[in-house]
Amino acid sequence: MPVHPSVPLSATAATLRRAGCVFAEDEARLLHEAARSPRELDTLTERRASGLPLEHVLGWAEFLGHRYAVDTGVFVPRRRSELLVRQAAALGPGRAVVVDLCCGSGALGVALAAALDGVELHSCDIEPAAVRCARRNLGGLGHVYEGDLFAPLPAALRGRVDLLLANVPYVPTGDVDLLPAEARVHEPRVALDGGDDGLDVMRRVAADAPNWLAPGGSLLVETGEHQTPAAVEVVAAAGLIPRVVVSPELYATVVTGTAPGTGTGSG
Ligand SMILES: C[S@@+](CC[C@H](N)C(=O)[O-])C[C@H]1O[C@@H](n2cnc3c(N)ncnc32)[C@H](O)[C@@H]1O
Repeated sequence: MPVHPSVPLSATAATLRRAGCVFAEDEARLLHEAARSPRELDTLTERRASGLPLEHVLGWAEFLGHRYAVDTGVFVPRRRSELLVRQAAALGPGRAVVVDLCCGSGALGVALAAALDGVELHSCDIEPAAVRCARRNLGGLGHVYEGDLFAPLPAALRGRVDLLLANVPYVPTGDVDLLPAEARVHEPRVALDGGDDGLDVMRRVAADAPNWLAPGGSLLVETGEHQTPAAVEVVAAAGLIPRVVVSPELYATVVTGTAPGTGTGSG
């Protein structure tokens, strides 16, 4: 129900459609719900029509049925990453120690904590804007650290991590310019660019993961379809036991690498 009857929903939708928004009606409804005045509605509509991602205009993104704050300049969690969280939840012991590396807004770690019981959650990212956003989304649920991959994590976590989520940047450098403008222009390059073959950050994560995983603990990464064989090799080269799960519906691939040994859970 639009809260601004003075501005018909159809007019907002027409503006968005002219700007190239595919889901113009749905987006118009969300903008009408978000705006507290006709003037604010104008501003939101203009921002969206200028190409800003809808989630940055609204200030939130939906992920696995919940809304998470997403500030401008922070990677918008993708629906395909539901597979990563679902796979992690299926592996998770009760009271798991979870690290969400490259956490962006922090949505994936929070969603995983919601799916498991009594999780100890540690999230980290190199981008200050992402860290600020993740702190808001985690609230009192866990700790958020700023820095390069594992560097800011407390040493006490070594050998204790049951689930290591790492939705690292994995777009090959040469493909970044081919991404839709919403990603290319409005998301930071450090959130997208994975180096020559897209696997540079993943290689660094996999190489250090065995130092942090508990016996039987798992690293979970998302990959592009064509990168999967190389990602499996990366995980296996780190001494982890690889497994691949594909969801054609979500157009998503997850590679899991499990540390040898029997998981005891942490609780
Ligand atoms: C593809 S985004 C994923 C964000 C979040 N996990 C999600 O799925 O919504 C990758 C994230 O990795 C972070 N990142 C890139 N390089 C990093 C590094 N060396 N250390 C820590 N974080 C890094 C970026 O800032 C970005 O937030």
